[in-house]
This record gives sequence, C-alpha cells and structure tokens, in this order.
Amino acid sequence: SDPYPFYGRHQAGIVTPAQDRLHFVAFDVTTDKRAELVDLLQEWTAAAARLTQGKEAGSFGAVGGAPEAAPDDTGEALGLPASGLTLTIGFGPSLFDDRFGLAAKRPSALADLPKFPGEQLIPEISGGDICVQACAHDPQVAVHAIRNLARIGFGRVSVRWSQLGFGRTSSTSRAQATPRNLMGFKDGTNNLKLEDADLLRDQLWAAGQDGSAWMAGGTYMVTRKIRMMIETWDRTSLLEQEQIIGRDKGEGAPLGKKAEFDTLDFAAKGSDGRPMIAEDAHVRLAHPSFHGNAHLLRRGYNFVDGSDGLGRLDAGLFFIAYQRDPRKQFVPVQMKLAKIDPLNEYIKHVSSGLFAVPPGVRDGGDYWGRTLF
Ligand code: HEM
Repeated sequence: SDPYPFYGRHQAGIVTPAQDRLHFVAFDVTTDKRAELVDLLQEWTAAAARLTQGKEAGSFGAVGGAPEAAPDDTGEALGLPASGLTLTIGFGPSLFDDRFGLAAKRPSALADLPKFPGEQLIPEISGGDICVQACAHDPQVAVHAIRNLARIGFGRVSVRWSQLGFGRTSSTSRAQATPRNLMGFKDGTNNLKLEDADLLRDQLWAAGQDGSAWMAGGTYMVTRKIRMMIETWDRTSLLEQEQIIGRDKGEGAPLGKKAEFDTLDFAAKGSDGRPMIAEDAHVRLAHPSFHGNAHLLRRGYNFVDGSDGLGRLDAGLFFIAYQRDPRKQFVPVQMKLAKIDPLNEYIKHVSSGLFAVPPGVRDGGDYWGRTLF
C-alpha cells in the first residue's frame, strides 16, 4: 500500500485508519535553549518526512556516509517498505514553562488532568515534554522511527518512557473491521471515525477561536496505560463480562440487540423489568448522550510487557484518545468511569499523558510546532 502523506492540514496518525502496531515515546527536553529546541524540531520534521515515505532517516542513510562517521540511519528498516508509518508529535504541559518562554502560549485546554479515584500512576512512565506516536503495520518500522528520532535528539532530549503496542483496539474508519482488546471484546465500535466529517470538526479539531490560534487544526491527546488483571477477568462468567461492558462478546451487539452497529437503547428493559444495558455498564457510563454529546477518538493498543514476576501477565490497554478539549471530553467521561464502572475491579491506570498535538506540517519549508514558536 502507498505511504500516508506526511504533509497536510492535520497531522497523520489521528484519523488515519488505525495501523496494527505502535511505538509511543515521551521525551524530556534536556537543553534549556529555545533555539536548540527549534533546531531539533526542524531536524525531526525532515527525518519524519523521509521515514514516513519509507526512506532512511538521513540523506546518507545507513551505509552511504563517511565510514568514519556514525551513520545517519540505524539500518534495521533497510529493505522494508513504509508499512503505513505515521509519526504524530505532541507537546506536554511541562514544555510550557519558563525554560522556553512558552508559558503564555499554553492552551487552556491543556489543563492538568485532575486526580481520578483509584488511579495508581507511576511518575517515571507518565507525562513528558514531547511525545511521538509511531504507528505502522510492521513493529520494526515503528521502532526504527522512534529510535532514529531519539538518536537525532541526543544531547537535547532524553527518552522519559516508551510503550510498545501490538494490536490496535480501535477502528478509526468505517472501512476497518472492529478489532478486540485483551478482554476479548470488540473495541472501537462506537468511535469517532474518519468518515464523520461534522463530528470531527466539532469534537476533534481545535479551532482558532478556542483560544490558542497556534493550535488551529491541531487536537489534544490523552494517554493512559491501563493494566488489566486479566487472570481475574478470565475467571469471570461470560454473562457478567457482557453485563459489565453492555455488549455481547461474540458479535459486539448492544445487549438486547442483534448486530454490532445497532443503536444502543438505554431504555429497553428485559422480562425481569431490569434495563438490558445495566445502569453501570461501561458503554452507558461512557456514552456521549450522558456527557453533553462529548465524543472521543479512541486509538489505543493492546500491550503485554512480559510478566510481573508474580505469575501474571503484565498486560492491558494502552489507551490513546484524541479530542478538541479534554476538559469537556476525556475528563468527565473518565471521572464517571473511575467512580462507578465495575470494570475497575479488573483494571488499574498506571500511567497518564496529556499532549497538545499541533496542526500538520504544510510542506518542506514548514516544521512540527512552527506555529508555537
Ligand atoms: C466503549 C472497553 C477504557 C471510553 C467500549 C467498548 C468496550 C470498551 C469493549 C464497546 C465497544 C465500542 O463501542 O468501542 C474498554 C476497556 C477499557 C476501557 C477494556 C479499559 C481497559 C475506557 C476509558 C475511556 C473509555 C478509559 C474514556 C475515559 C469509551 C467510550 C466508549 C467505549 C467513549 C463508547 C461508548 C458508546 O458511545 O457506545 N470500551 N474501555 N473506555 N469506551 Fe471503553
């Protein structure tokens, strides 16, 4: 398949049909010189424009440069196609501090997330000044891209944390089949999708009149690493699993309905007089109709980071959601889930990230974040 275009009004990797593999990285900026940060963003942009088209990170490549110099590409993607690679950059709240004189440009929508009941965040794998989401059909290609950005950034940024994801848990286009998360359920059925032009304009893309002109055409990203206690889940009855989610496991249909894309009927009652979709079912608690029509574009990935030394898989969902304003979208939805969702018995939020995702790079003379600087 053809590479995805790197240049455009919006960054790729958001409404792009979700690829199967993820390598996500958060960097801390180690220089305090604004000019060095801008240089880095320009160098990264040039590399990203090449990498996403299946080229090597630098013009000499892995073996074409001077033998005495370190190569300007690390080489492990030689011979591999672009594999649908997209690279999407975001700026965390901590970038908007005195170091770079950016405090006045911090968007109000980039307000720190509140503490959510029950979360057990690990600071070392949370936050970050800058993130890059690499998605591709081939994990080697995604890892190669992040590795080369880290290499280019040496001396100016350091890797704070990174996360691999091996299977998408969302569809972001109606042309895609809905995948499954590690709880075995179809995930991404009721998601914002590429084809929902009106909703994307209202719910996904930031506009100049939102308050930060430099963010027009951008969006906001929330990441949550959600560990699943899958061994406990696996001993839960099918009936209970389905009631917790509010959909059946095989087809993914709303309880009481037949097909995956049938509309949810929250008023429908069973013969016992109880709602078909329980009052505390996940899909009810998260549904836009109970949150002032707030939607999310979910674009998460399954992860298994080996095992935890206690006989359990270290597995779960690396949740990624894009939206126009987290204060109106992710925050109220997650607050409700954190308080009520019976899913909480089986999950634990261990890392959190929040990033302003700037508009797309227009052409070869433009660079990631230009409108901010
Ligand atoms: C829907 C699973 C965490 C927001 C769903 C669905 C499943 C699911 C199976 C139904 C299929 C679909 O419509 O996509 C999970 C699991 C989670 C998790 C296993 C944790 C490990 C979250 C979080 C949020 C969220 C943290 C946001 C704060 C939503 C929304 C929907 C949804 C908005 C669509 C509801 C609708 O409009 O019908 N989730 N989810 N989920 N989830 Fe989650």
